[in-house]
Amino acid sequence: MEGYASANDISAVVEADKKHVWHHLIQHKMFETVDPRVIVEGKGLRVWDAKGKEYIDAVSGAVWTVNVGYGRESIANVVRDQLVKMNYFAGVGGSIPGALFAEKLISKMPGMSRVYYSNSGSEANEKVYKMVRQISHNVHGGKKWKILYRERDYHGTTIGALATSGQAERAAQYGPYPDGFVMVPHCLEYRKQWDVENYGERAADAIEEVILREGPDTVGAIVLEPVTAGGGVIVPPKGYWERVQEICKKYNVLLHIDEVVCGVGRTGVWFGYQNYGIKPDFVTMAKGVASGYAAISCTVTTEAVFDLFKANSADPMSYFRDISTFGGCTSGPAAALENMRIIEDENLLDNTLRMGKRTVDNLNALMEKHKVIGDVRGAGLFCGAELVADRKTKEPADEKKVAAVVAECNAQGVIIGMTNRSLPGLNNTLCLSPALIATPDDIDAITGAIDKALTKVFG
Ligand SMILES: Cc1ncc(COP(=O)(O)O)c(C=O)c1O
Repeated sequence: MEGYASANDISAVVEADKKHVWHHLIQHKMFETVDPRVIVEGKGLRVWDAKGKEYIDAVSGAVWTVNVGYGRESIANVVRDQLVKMNYFAGVGGSIPGALFAEKLISKMPGMSRVYYSNSGSEANEKVYKMVRQISHNVHGGKKWKILYRERDYHGTTIGALATSGQAERAAQYGPYPDGFVMVPHCLEYRKQWDVENYGERAADAIEEVILREGPDTVGAIVLEPVTAGGGVIVPPKGYWERVQEICKKYNVLLHIDEVVCGVGRTGVWFGYQNYGIKPDFVTMAKGVASGYAAISCTVTTEAVFDLFKANSADPMSYFRDISTFGGCTSGPAAALENMRIIEDENLLDNTLRMGKRTVDNLNALMEKHKVIGDVRGAGLFCGAELVADRKTKEPADEKKVAAVVAECNAQGVIIGMTNRSLPGLNNTLCLSPALIATPDDIDAITGAIDKALTKVFG
């Protein structure tokens, strides 16, 4: 591809990286013998590494982020123009892109009304936890301070967010954690915990059981992913969400939906929760909001929640005493506005539904040939295939073999993902989340690479 650095030009960069960069979520011993992957350029769905190798990126920047694809000059241009005009002022004041993006975002979220800006998904979630705690102090006399979270969900990397990690391998060794965060069971029907017909309702009833066990007057909120991402691409079963909403209403528990992965189009609607007709009190989002062209996260609340923080203006402690320095960067909302325009003008939500269906159909077709695929799950362009050693017993496939499938796809020039250091013994789900611009040929190339890789690794 024209313009990307040759292997020779870039070798000094790779050396500098090897010597000085501490990469995310990776054991570094192997870099004593192999080079880290340095991605130097991207266009559409494709990226190029420092050695000039081309890949189809089937995971949008490895972690479900680059929703509108790489190399979008229009986003770069609006960000550049905004930075030259006004790059930063703390969020105590307003900004043009901050106001305009908030208005645009809320137009896609009926029932929601206020946008609080910060920088990462973890931070957006922490804001909610702080709001819930402050509501406990100021409205409930110190009651309703506990926050429920679900087994297999993930909400971020900070200590508070990790206190709500339903993934033991992410949370282990970083405790002790703060009090008041309580886990409820997961809802993945493939790994059944109850032998009933209406599995969705039963899995939601497990939340009620936890509320009753803890005491309804101690529980203030529950945080849930609309579709669990890193915990195994779990699409909740029919009936689940309706029942969750009823339970929240019944016990006056605020509903916090973590849309960090699903938000802004990933499942073929603007927000994952909109697939289920539920009415959250808080919605958090990050990754796809600006497709990685700038750092931005949003904590969105209803006006009713917002009002609780201004009701008592005589009390100097009762408003939300929180700031995120870089929540005042204008590049985030400027990029996010353009990102949303692209999704609308290019009809990417429709494309996501069509290409998501094609992905799931292709994966289901592979099930005929590869007994190792135990279950295929997906919502829009957010799909997973759980690999098992035995379909009957559902014994998970050895995670080293699952990693070998990912490596084999990589060798073929297709970057896919897998559940990574999430649940002990259950890092066995292949993950696909290409950019929302994927074409039928792209999808077929991705699932074709998986087909070959499964044959190579499992026979
Ligand atoms: C569902 C979910 N919530 C929150 C986060 C944390 O986001 P960040 O890494 O931007 O802090 C992630 C990250 O993968 C996520 O998948």
